[in-house]
Amino acid sequence: MAQKKMWGGRFAQDTAKSVEDYTRSVDFDRRLYAEDILGSKAHARMLARQGIIAGHEAEALVRGLDQVRAEIESGAFKWRPELEDVHMNIEARLTEIVGPVGGKLHTARSRNDQVALDMRLHVAARLDDWARGLKALVAVLVELSKGREETVMPGLTHLQPAQPVSLAHHLLAYAWMLKRDCERVGQALVRVRVSPLGAAALAGTTFDLDPESAARELGFAGVFKNSLDAVSDRDFVIEAVFCACLAMSHLSRLCEEIVLWANPCFGFVRLPDAFATGSSIMPQKRNPDVCELMRGRTARVYGGLMALLALVKGLPLAYNRDLQEDKEPFFATDDILAPSLAIMVEMLPGLEFFPRAMARAAEQGYLNATELADYLAARGLPFREAHHAAGRAVALAEGRGQGLADLGLDELKAICPLVEGDVFEVLSLSAALRRRTSPGGTGPDSAARQARELLDWLGRDG
Ligand code: ARG
Repeated sequence: MAQKKMWGGRFAQDTAKSVEDYTRSVDFDRRLYAEDILGSKAHARMLARQGIIAGHEAEALVRGLDQVRAEIESGAFKWRPELEDVHMNIEARLTEIVGPVGGKLHTARSRNDQVALDMRLHVAARLDDWARGLKALVAVLVELSKGREETVMPGLTHLQPAQPVSLAHHLLAYAWMLKRDCERVGQALVRVRVSPLGAAALAGTTFDLDPESAARELGFAGVFKNSLDAVSDRDFVIEAVFCACLAMSHLSRLCEEIVLWANPCFGFVRLPDAFATGSSIMPQKRNPDVCELMRGRTARVYGGLMALLALVKGLPLAYNRDLQEDKEPFFATDDILAPSLAIMVEMLPGLEFFPRAMARAAEQGYLNATELADYLAARGLPFREAHHAAGRAVALAEGRGQGLADLGLDELKAICPLVEGDVFEVLSLSAALRRRTSPGGTGPDSAARQARELLDWLGRDG
């Protein structure tokens, strides 16, 4: 008789070793132990409130579960691979501790609603942590922007010189992206914090449960409306990983810029020694490996999203064992995003910026050509014609290896008679920056305003 398994009643033979190995999840789902215990305690108390088990039985279960938790955290707990998953490992130990009453814990519950609850609790806790990490990074970027509202650097489009922007404005662009990531996480949380406990295997149960009260105890705002849906969807995991994908895409873009800026061809930034790595052959190297790995690991997070989407697309209602595969992509995502946020928060304040190199680079590539076109347009020339005239001025200066401001007033007048002596004021890059006062533009006041608004948000939300 097969007695080893909790579900072994109807089996005459033991499970094949190969099947145990193939189906086991305890190696990775033990990460859910705290949530599993939390959920079980809430379930036990709810059963007692409903009169389904006695009050003293619930107390024994809760005490036993607390002991299991302590054993796991002290390292004394013996994980038994043959017990398949985190749920059965914990229940088996609980029963050793409290005796036969341990067997009452699973009344009116299935591993199907249990695992869905564990994942929801876990994802919610991790989303909270991501939100904190994102906020910390926004705060760092705001701080970095301060005093750099007039630091001119080349703004690029197509990676080609376009118009001058301030370093503050550039850094704050990332702060806004990360703020949205944080808000997205908060919005996802609303859908994660819905308790599936009480859905049982798939159809609800014959016992008179009160899922609301268990959900409240767990800090969840709501309860499932349909038991089939509750045990079988993992949209909340997918949405969480999607949030991570976007956050990683923003981090990856920032990393890419730091990699470029740290290259001596740009020379805009120097990584702190503690965050740069050397080469075993080239003595001069200071490699931005942290940024490269963050950029590279973004790919793995995207891969997790694809895996999760593909996982659910063909599943009939309700629970299918395939759903066990939701965990590793989520854990892998978390193992990438959380430390990426933390190391960025640590690394960014140590960046050394080189405003002179930025200013020098901004002098290349006719970043003030739009200024000349705007100048002419402001004097009544249709912008298309102004653009053309400015283009001719660029061609003239470029032919001589000069900047626009090196052209003579008479030469500029010859290209367009609307030009006056005041043209040289608008051609300076810092003037170009200061004059970009349009809302959300790169002007120094705008950067300061953005920083204030972000700080307000951090204060409200933090
Ligand atoms: N390890 C399983 C999972 O993660 C737990 C639920 C098992 N349910 C079942 N009906 N076999 O999905």
